[in-house]
Amino acid sequence: MRRPARVAMLCLGCGLCSLLYALSQLALSLEQEAPRRRGGSAFPVRRQLSGGGGGDVVEGWRAMAGSAGRGERKRRREMPERCKNVSLSYWNSYWMLPSDVCGKNCFWEAALRYNFVKTEPSEKMHLAVVACGERLEETVTMLRSAIIFSIKPLQFHIFAEDLLHPNFREMLGSLSYQEKFNYTLYPISFPTENAAEWKKLFKPCASQRLFLPLILSDVDSLLYVDTDILFLRPVDDIWSFLKKFNSSQIAAMAPEHEEPRIGWYNRFARHPYYGNTGINSGVMLMNMTRMRRKYFKNDMTTVRLRWEEILMPLLKKYKLNITWGDQDLLNIMFFHNPESLFVFPCQWNYRPDHCIYGSNCQQAENDGIFILHGNRGVYHDDKQPAFRAVYEAIKNYSFGDDLMHALLLPLELELQKTQHTYCGRIYKVFIKQLTKTIQNIYDRRSKGR
Ligand SMILES: *[C@@H]1O[C@H](CO)[C@@H](O)[C@H](O)[C@H]1NC(C)=O
Ligand SMILES: *[C@@H]1O[C@H](CO)[C@@H](O)[C@H](O)[C@H]1NC(C)=O
Ligand SMILES: *[C@@H]1O[C@H](CO)[C@@H](O)[C@H](O)[C@H]1NC(C)=O
Ligand SMILES: *[C@@H]1O[C@H](CO)[C@@H](O)[C@H](O)[C@H]1NC(C)=O
Ligand SMILES: *[C@@H]1O[C@H](CO)[C@@H](O)[C@H](O)[C@H]1NC(C)=O
Ligand SMILES: *[C@@H]1O[C@H](CO)[C@@H](O)[C@H](O)[C@H]1NC(C)=O
Repeated sequence: MRRPARVAMLCLGCGLCSLLYALSQLALSLEQEAPRRRGGSAFPVRRQLSGGGGGDVVEGWRAMAGSAGRGERKRRREMPERCKNVSLSYWNSYWMLPSDVCGKNCFWEAALRYNFVKTEPSEKMHLAVVACGERLEETVTMLRSAIIFSIKPLQFHIFAEDLLHPNFREMLGSLSYQEKFNYTLYPISFPTENAAEWKKLFKPCASQRLFLPLILSDVDSLLYVDTDILFLRPVDDIWSFLKKFNSSQIAAMAPEHEEPRIGWYNRFARHPYYGNTGINSGVMLMNMTRMRRKYFKNDMTTVRLRWEEILMPLLKKYKLNITWGDQDLLNIMFFHNPESLFVFPCQWNYRPDHCIYGSNCQQAENDGIFILHGNRGVYHDDKQPAFRAVYEAIKNYSFGDDLMHALLLPLELELQKTQHTYCGRIYKVFIKQLTKTIQNIYDRRSKGR
């Protein structure tokens, strides 16, 4: 009887030891993982983590996990401190919790927190826009909508003609919430050999976007938007699609049309295009690291080409057949490489086409519009007053004013006046998500208080 018992004890002991080892390895790997993932902004975190000595901390975790063995005092001394440091630097609402929250089950608490960090690193979100001609005010309104609703800090990359730079500096300098964003202004630039040819293509400067992966060569991921975009929910939410990319996806866009009967590409295009109705490039989320690395299939050579190699041959081949400039080139590219595109639903890029002949974006009717795209100049004329009302409301809003009373309610009143139009008839779709977004901001604020 004694011998089997001893064997059992031994097995139990071994099991416990390997469990402890596994846990400490997990701790160690999380330890190494976390700062790396946070990229450039890792410095303060890294310092904090190693402040207590990386080894010490892991030792502390081991002590905690091995509650059978190590000293009670050591645990008391190290664990609560550890938890507090982690929560302070990673996830605000945790430090609102009472300090003993991690005293009880600190190991799992801390591990779960690291998991959270892994899926949602507090990295900056990079947003790029190309503004030429008369687009200054529209661009600033777009940037304001990003600032008002977003959670994580934003880095703007603004490409504009030189003469607009002072105006941008002035208008962005006067925005409040400076702590939520930084910006860099760039001149419009093209590869020198074909600069003239590129500039001619489509609207002035619009093809600039094709070169972003090459110009912003140390930015990992980027959300490119046209100037006539308005965010009605945090940029964070579209940014989170990056994490949903499978291993072959490099970019995300919405379809150009939901309804093939009014689709442009399927009726008129004289070049290949993605899917049934093509894609719209007004909201384009890119993992540029992957774009720079990928070799693209194409119909010009049997060899696969890199991004920087493919653009000019593509333009040369299709120059006479493309209508919408760079968007057409993207359609051709993803026609040949469909596995690389992540397609998000129409409410992330909602255009007049989705309602002017009757509503055809079902997802927007269900959940509201997430990102509004007022193409065809509808923010500036009277053809689609519902679109214009949203634009005006965001333009009129002053930072710091109550969002409900200074933004949502006046907008709803304006929208009600547009019900004689097809888009105005479904005006509730325009504020459905906006209402939720504002409610969430209130909730976050009252939690933070
Ligand atoms: C936690 O942070 C404080 C102050 O920043 C520091 O003194 C302490 O050593 C840190 N503890 C650990 C375990 O990193
Ligand atoms: C903007 O840049 C400044 C200086 O580089 C930095 O201190 C600040 O934290 C940045 N702000 C945001 C929101 O990233
Ligand atoms: C351009 O359009 C013409 C007319 O539809 C077509 O015959 C030609 O093959 C197209 N060119 C390319 C490169 O697809
Ligand atoms: C982009 O892709 C690279 C390479 O696959 C990956 O390391 C990086 O984490 C991705 N970026 C984001 C934000 O997911
Ligand atoms: C990624 O998703 C796309 C679109 O659904 C698909 O075509 C592709 O095969 C997927 N790639 C992998 C590696 O699963
Ligand atoms: C924005 O302000 C203009 C001028 O003050 C006003 O006419 C318009 O009704 C406002 N629009 C909204 C949606 O608040």
